[in-house]
Amino acid sequence: MSTEVVISGAGLWRPLHTITNEELVASYNAWVDRHNAEQAAAIAAGTLEAKPHSSAEFIEKASGIRSRYTYVKDGTLEVERMRPRIPHRGEDELSHQAEMALNAARIALANAGKTGSDIDMVIVSCAYTERSYPAIAIEVQHALGIEGFGFDMLVACSAATFALQRACDALKAGSARGVLVINPELTSPQVNYCDRDSHFIFGDVSTAIVLERADTCRSAHSYTVLGSRAVTLYSNNIRSNFGYVARAEDTDPFGTDNLFHQNGRKVFKEVCPMAADHLEAQIAAVGLTIPDIRRWWLHQANINMNQLITRRLLGRDATAREAPIVLDEFANTASAGSIIAFCLYHEDLAAGDHGVICSFGAGYSIGSLVVRKR
Ligand SMILES: CC(C)(COP(=O)(O)OP(=O)(O)OC[C@H]1O[C@@H](n2cnc3c(N)ncnc32)[C@H](O)[C@@H]1OP(=O)(O)O)[C@@H](O)C(=O)NCCC(=O)NCCS
Repeated sequence: MSTEVVISGAGLWRPLHTITNEELVASYNAWVDRHNAEQAAAIAAGTLEAKPHSSAEFIEKASGIRSRYTYVKDGTLEVERMRPRIPHRGEDELSHQAEMALNAARIALANAGKTGSDIDMVIVSCAYTERSYPAIAIEVQHALGIEGFGFDMLVACSAATFALQRACDALKAGSARGVLVINPELTSPQVNYCDRDSHFIFGDVSTAIVLERADTCRSAHSYTVLGSRAVTLYSNNIRSNFGYVARAEDTDPFGTDNLFHQNGRKVFKEVCPMAADHLEAQIAAVGLTIPDIRRWWLHQANINMNQLITRRLLGRDATAREAPIVLDEFANTASAGSIIAFCLYHEDLAAGDHGVICSFGAGYSIGSLVVRKR
């Protein structure tokens, strides 16, 4: 029996709504004006600093982001609210994240030429899940009529690559025949839309990948996984703290300290060399060299990070074809970024071409898969 593991289908689902930088900044600036007016006495007394405006030009220049998708737009731009108004769903209804997951999973299954009966392991892997249990993956498994097992896993921006590695290991070990890895990144509820440093960073999206053994693969576009590597190194520089213990600690679970926050400069400085070193080592470990890599499907947090990493690896600027950027349309979609790039930019590769899927982010965590088109 073959132990060659392949990626045989990929699916990308875009939420129905978008928020442009201009819309986001107009709403943030209106909120700031109101905040500064309310705090005018303290600001005049010098006990509080007036908050400065945000700018669409800064956002695009600093990050490459122009727009982002959002699962629910209602509420997010309202100065009185500054967060999405997502309708509550009861226990008998499909959950929001399961719906997002199914939207991408069905596309990935169709692209792989598979149905639920070909899958026996479902991993929902993303930066946040909307509840602790039952796992979103089990809800998805049930909706697709899959026999086997599913589980959720959280590794922030590296959730997708880490789950793909789990899938490869399971397929090689024989504990699964077909695996669905799904990343329903519902990031908007955790964004602090009142924080100038981070209000622009995230977008919502859902991606999915089907993996199987080469001997069952019938897909027109499939990729042998030559190797995968997952690394973590503890860092406090990107944090999201809200969680169930807040109830017992008598703290506000959604206080600003508990929403996403980061030391962006430090992250930039520390993660770029880590990612470049990781990629160099991983490509060498599968017997390839940097010039052998035709496509770099990199994590999408910041265009300047990606340019720095590929420049260090290639010794020159990568072309848009070699290292596609999707930040302008999608923003940072946590673990889904490199998978979006893969979904949109893989079909043109020829048999024998090599590519790398790589994530880097909170934890810190870095994950990569080197693949060859079949
Ligand atoms: C987040 C990030 C885009 C910020 O870019 P940056 O160039 O580091 O920006 P800084 O926070 O240092 O701010 C630079 C200047 O722009 C200003 N600025 C910050 N946010 C602004 C905004 N929304 N609008 C206008 N100006 C802004 C700052 O006040 C600062 O001004 P100063 O130089 O007068 O002090 C960048 O640090 C980054 O991409 N880091 C990588 C980490 C990452 O994206 N992680 C995501 C999770 S994985």
